[in-house]
Formats: sequence, C-alpha cells, structure tokens
Amino acid sequence: MKVILYMAITANGMIAKENDDTRFISKTEWKSFDEMSKKIGNLIMGRRTYEISLAEGTFPYPDRLNIVMTNRSTANKWEKVIFTKKSPKDVLQLLERMGFKTAFVGGGGTVNASFMEENLIDEIYLDIEPVILGKGIKLFADKKFESKLKLIGIKKLSKNEIQLHYSVER
Ligand SMILES: NC(=O)c1ccc[n+]([C@@H]2O[C@H](COP(=O)([O-])OP(=O)(O)OC[C@H]3O[C@@H](n4cnc5c(N)ncnc54)[C@H](OP(=O)(O)O)[C@@H]3O)[C@@H](O)[C@H]2O)c1
Repeated sequence: MKVILYMAITANGMIAKENDDTRFISKTEWKSFDEMSKKIGNLIMGRRTYEISLAEGTFPYPDRLNIVMTNRSTANKWEKVIFTKKSPKDVLQLLERMGFKTAFVGGGGTVNASFMEENLIDEIYLDIEPVILGKGIKLFADKKFESKLKLIGIKKLSKNEIQLHYSVER
C-alpha cells in the first residue's frame, strides 16, 4: 500500500490560520488536490477537518471514500463515508482489504503527524502558497519524529505557486 500525504502550505509550513481560515489556498491548488484524491479514490482526514468541510459545504468529497478519524461516535448519514477510531496502521489495512492500492492522507496537522510518527507515509506533495503566517496550524502537529526526504519532482502550479514532490526515506 502506497501512502501519499498531500497538503497546501504557506511558505513557512502552515496549513491554516489560527481560526481555521484557509482562504489563502488558490482554486488551482484545490483542483490539483481534489483531482489526485479522486483518482486515488479515497481521502483520509481528521475530525476537525471534517467539521470545517461540513460547515463549508464541501463534505463529503464526491466520487471517493471519505475516511474521518475520530475517537468520538458520530452519526453517519452518508454512503461513502467511514468514521473510525482505528489507528493509522489499521486504517491503511482497512483500505487494503477494500482493494485500494494507494491511500491519500489529506490533513489536518494532527492526522498528518499521527501517520508520520508511525513512519507510514511514502510520498509527500506540498503545494506552496505565496504567503507567510506568523501564527497558524502547522503541517504536522508537535510530535517527536524525524524523517529524511528525497526530492522527486517540482512543478509550477501557477505564476506564484510551486508543488514539491518528495519521497520519504525509510
Ligand atoms: N492546507 C491544507 O491543505 C489543509 C488540509 C486539511 C485541513 N486543513 C486545516 O487543518 C486544520 C485542522 O487540523 P487539526 O490538526 O486541527 O485537526 P485534524 O487533524 O483535522 O483533526 C484532529 C482530530 O482528528 C482525530 N484524530 C487525529 N488523529 C487520530 C488518530 N490517530 N486516531 C483517531 N483519531 C484521530 C481526533 O478527533 P477526536 O478529537 O474526535 O478524537 C483529533 O482531534 C483546519 O484548519 C483545516 O482547515 C488544511
């Protein structure tokens, strides 16, 4: 199972403002994120990201399996949505049993860190938005881990945005 983490970040590694505002993310970036997740067929996210997407009217993301990681019991009124208390490793096993060859991790910072901490990420895509935020939500929540990366691709998304594509050394 290949595991991809895909995020839009500020030039200093934030994924949202303190108040969860992500309006600095461009339409081009959203499209790129959306297309890759749709192609892979799944999207793993944390409970906070789910709640924000729901409030913004973007949840569930169409044409893919939406997996929401949460320790709370949540009423599920959707078909292609799974709320789960499973660990990152067990979520990947579930996807494997369902026939997926690739898993797509789409934030937020807490979920990203739980996968990184267990060394489960194979590739990382970072779309860098032309903004710096002194305060905000970090790409990875504070946890103790260290990973070396190999740069495997650079793509210009627009005049002001680049995409970095890394593999994680194991
Ligand atoms: N820039 C981007 O590309 C991008 C993408 C996605 C999200 N975001 C932003 O990121 C922010 C949210 O990030 P966040 O770090 O605050 O929250 P988050 O990662 O979205 O959600 C955290 C919650 O997920 C659940 N969770 C996380 N790891 C788990 C695990 N291993 N097992 C079970 N449950 C687990 C827990 O839910 P319970 O408390 O319910 O147990 C935890 O409180 C928002 O502002 C959002 O807009 C940005």
